[in-house]
Amino acid sequence: MAVLSSAVVAGAAWAAYAFAQEPASAPRVETQVAQPQAAAASDADKALIEKGRYLAAAADCIACHTAKGGKPFAGGLGIDSPIGKIYSTNITPDKTTGIGDYTFQDFDNAVRRGVAKNGSSLYPAMPYVSYAKVKPSDVKALYAYFMRGVQPVEQANKPTDIVWPLSMRWPLRFWRMTFAPDAITDDSPLPNDPIVRGRYLVEGLAHCSACHTPRGVGLQEKSLTDDGHTFLSGGVIDGYLAKNLRGDSKDGLGTWSEADIVAFLKGGRTAHSAAFGGMTEVVENSTQHMSDADLAAIAAYLKTLKPVDTAGSALTANPAAAAALRAGTDRSNGALTFLDNCAACHRTSGVGYSETFPALALSSAVNSDDPTSLIHLVLQGGEMPWTKAAPTHYGMPGFADRLTNRDIADVLTFVRSSWGNHAPAVTADQVAKVRGAVKAPAQPTRAENP
Ligand code: HEC
Ligand code: HEC
Ligand code: HEC
Repeated sequence: MAVLSSAVVAGAAWAAYAFAQEPASAPRVETQVAQPQAAAASDADKALIEKGRYLAAAADCIACHTAKGGKPFAGGLGIDSPIGKIYSTNITPDKTTGIGDYTFQDFDNAVRRGVAKNGSSLYPAMPYVSYAKVKPSDVKALYAYFMRGVQPVEQANKPTDIVWPLSMRWPLRFWRMTFAPDAITDDSPLPNDPIVRGRYLVEGLAHCSACHTPRGVGLQEKSLTDDGHTFLSGGVIDGYLAKNLRGDSKDGLGTWSEADIVAFLKGGRTAHSAAFGGMTEVVENSTQHMSDADLAAIAAYLKTLKPVDTAGSALTANPAAAAALRAGTDRSNGALTFLDNCAACHRTSGVGYSETFPALALSSAVNSDDPTSLIHLVLQGGEMPWTKAAPTHYGMPGFADRLTNRDIADVLTFVRSSWGNHAPAVTADQVAKVRGAVKAPAQPTRAENP
């Protein structure tokens, strides 16, 4: 019995762990999938299929269900967990290897309840806890699109690499029973209110909280709806902090206007900030394809979220650091490392160049308590998303083989305490941990390094 119950716990934990590993390396693929020769569909059918195509982009199905360089929706993308990989499945309408013989009920059970056609439970790497909030009529449109708008591809599914006994799927049933909400049955149209529409998208199809909400002991999302403080308050995913999206002025979206949020989701950047890490693919594959009205609805809803820290105040700009850098009076390792490696793009004032190099001064990403994202970005560099709205595209080089753990700790500590920024210092130990976790090259050896 002890063995069985620990299998349940372990199964649940790994299942959820895998869920937390949503691939940041999702492939860059065209969402416009070639139209198969669907039997002459009526106009109403075509409209339903088009609606499904749009909803599939909002739900980012392609990100997980397409392997790097693979055919759209044919599955096979490995999602890492320390005990093995879980592979996404073929969801093209191929009858033998895909979901071509799924009835609507089979499809709905998989998407909103986490139950496969053969009755076994799916790993919550498939975000059915969020999709449970999708209205049945929207699931019907998704079904129409996957059955008749997607090209069938014959490609067999790969079994998970997980070893027995953790590979047993029955413990996942207990995870589902404990943590997955019931699929909603209310199919009435939403009231004509952007905030209601925004909430529907954020909690459901767009599954923003899969990355942006912290996880509890079962590695489940601590909250699946606005609870006043935890929902969307930040979570670590694939070595990046999917940061606080609540109303905090310092490290949330308190100082972002609704227009900033829309610009970010549409073009991957604002005048002062840029998407990086896992958010790059979310913008490329999903949010840039959403309508302006839906993006405005998401922004309106996010702006209703109260700050986690209700006593927190906004940061104020402080010109002292820029003056000291220009005068050459700050000889600290952090300041010198910044001048040598960062100032060309981010400038001594820390304000960068609008829509080109993001501002470090007063940035909500820079001022998050958890420095994981910043360390990861300085080690490996980043590229802004490719979008229709902002076709020019800039990158930041990685510094893993040029800067030591101490240099990176010092330069980030400098960035997080200059120009009015106010966030805890970064230690060389923290950098060493992230360097190991993201498998960046070893630090350079330099005798003169302090
Ligand atoms: C965050 C990654 C992710 C996203 C986003 C995602 N899926 Fe999945 N999905 C998976 C994984 C992984 C599996 C396999 C889980 C398992 O083996 O237990 C899966 C399984 C499925 C299955 C079961 C297939 C079968 O062979 O029985 C269906 C159907 C499905 N997904 C449809 C969708 C649809 C439709 C969307 C968009 C609305 C979507 N998925 C979005 C990761 C994802
Ligand atoms: C696959 C994981 C993932 C999903 C899903 C996701 N995000 Fe993100 N998001 C991140 C990461 C990681 C960051 C931090 C990097 C950055 O700031 O660009 C981020 C950053 C952001 C930022 C920038 C905040 C700032 O202060 O700099 C916004 C805004 C945002 N996400 C909104 C959303 C919304 C809205 C959704 C749902 C439509 C969403 N995200 C879904 C991973 C994700
Ligand atoms: C060649 C120009 C360039 C250099 C040099 C450069 N960066 Fe960047 N930086 C960028 C770009 C472009 C981005 C956006 C990256 C993305 O979207 O993935 C960025 C993003 C950032 C961010 C995230 C800011 C935010 O609010 O979104 C931080 C922090 C950062 N850089 C710090 C540094 C530090 C520290 C150095 C020096 C060690 C440095 N950068 C060197 C161009 C540069």
